[in-house]
Amino acid sequence: MARVKVAVMGATGYGGVGVATYILGHPQAELVWVGSGTYEGRRLDEACPWLRGRTDLVCVAQNPSQAAEAADVVFMAQPNGFAMDNAGKVLESGRKVIDLSGDFRIKDTAVYERYYGRPQTAPELLEEAVYGLPEITGDAVAGARLVANTGCYPTGPILALHPLLAAGLVTGEDIIIDAISGVSGAGRAKHALPFHFPEMNETLTAYRLGRHQHTPEIEQALGSARGEALALTFSPHLAPITRGILATCYARVPQEMDAEGAADRCRAELIQRYGASPFVRVLPAGEVPSTKATLGSNYCDINVFEDARTRRVIVVTAVDNLGRGAASQAVQNMNLMLGFGEALGIDQAPVFP
Ligand SMILES: NC(=O)c1ccc[n+]([C@@H]2O[C@H](COP(=O)([O-])OP(=O)(O)OC[C@H]3O[C@@H](n4cnc5c(N)ncnc54)[C@H](OP(=O)(O)O)[C@@H]3O)[C@@H](O)[C@H]2O)c1
Repeated sequence: MARVKVAVMGATGYGGVGVATYILGHPQAELVWVGSGTYEGRRLDEACPWLRGRTDLVCVAQNPSQAAEAADVVFMAQPNGFAMDNAGKVLESGRKVIDLSGDFRIKDTAVYERYYGRPQTAPELLEEAVYGLPEITGDAVAGARLVANTGCYPTGPILALHPLLAAGLVTGEDIIIDAISGVSGAGRAKHALPFHFPEMNETLTAYRLGRHQHTPEIEQALGSARGEALALTFSPHLAPITRGILATCYARVPQEMDAEGAADRCRAELIQRYGASPFVRVLPAGEVPSTKATLGSNYCDINVFEDARTRRVIVVTAVDNLGRGAASQAVQNMNLMLGFGEALGIDQAPVFP
C-alpha cells in the first residue's frame, strides 16, 4: 500500500521538526515536503543536524498551496495567526490539515480575540475544526479534515480532569491548575530576553497570570465534560529545564461524597477510563508523576492524591510539551484521521535519564 504523503510547514521549529522526525520513522507515512522561510533552499538536516543521514529533503518557502500539491496531509506548526489565514488553501485541494497553533482551538471568537489579542479571521473553518485530544475527542478526529491539536499545557489537565468531572467525582467549581513548563515551550525562533540562558537559568517565574491563552482552552474542554460552562484559575510557570510540563490540579470533592477515599475513587475511574489507551498511564497509588519519566514520549502520566481536610483532590500530570504536548500528539491525531493504528510511529519509550 502506498504510504501517505506528509508536508510539514514550520518544519525547522521545535513542533514542526518533531512531527517531521516522527513521520520519518512512520511505517505508513512519508515525509515529502518541508517548509521554512529562514532555511529556504537549504537542507532540513542543515537546520536540524540531528537528522543527518535520515533525510535529504530541502526546505522550501512556506506556501500552503504547494504543500497541498505535494502531500495528502499538511501539518502547520507556525506561530498563532498563520493557520487561520492559510488552512483553507490546503483544504480546498482536498487535503487534510493538522494545526499545532491555537488558531482553531477556541470555539468562541470573542474569547479567542480576548486571549490571543487578534481576531479569528476564519470562522467558517473554525466551525468545522475538531479539537484534537485523541482519548477525549478521537471519534470526531477520525472524520475530520481540519484538526486543532491540543495545546501543551492543556493536554495533561484535560486528560486527568475530564473523566473525573464527567463521572461527578469532582465539581467544576474553583478548579486551580498550577503548571510548570520547560523553556522549549516558547519555541525555537523566539529569542526574547526571558528565554536567554543567563536570564532563565537558576530561576523560577510565573507568567501571564490570570490571562494565559490556554485558560479558555482548558475551560472549554472541561466544560464539555459537564455540559455547562466553568471558570478556573490557571497559573503557568517557567522552569530552567529544556522540555516537560508538570501540572498540579486542585479540584473539590462534591459535598455529598466523603472526602476520605476521594483519591482512590478518582484513580479507579481513570484506570477504567484509560485501561485501553496506550498513552495514558495512571501511576500506582502514591507515585508522583515526573516530567523525566515522560521525556521524548507520547505518554501522559497521571496520579491523584487527596487533602481530606480541605475536601480537595490533587491531580498531578506530566507530559513532554514537545511530544505529547505537540508533535507526537499531532501524529496520533493523524493516525486517527487516516484510520491507522493510534500508536503507529509514536510508540517510543521515554528517553532516560
Ligand atoms: N513549543 C511547544 O512546546 C509547543 C507546544 C504545543 C504547541 N505549540 C505551537 O506550535 C506552533 C509552533 O511552535 P514551535 O514551538 O515549534 O515554534 P518555533 O520553534 O519557534 O517554530 C516556529 C516555526 O514557524 C515558522 N515561522 C515563524 N514565523 C512565521 C511566519 N510569520 N509565517 C510563517 N512561518 C513562520 C518558523 O520557520 P521560518 O521562520 O523558518 O519560516 C518555524 O519553523 C506555535 O503555534 C505554538 O504555539 C508549541
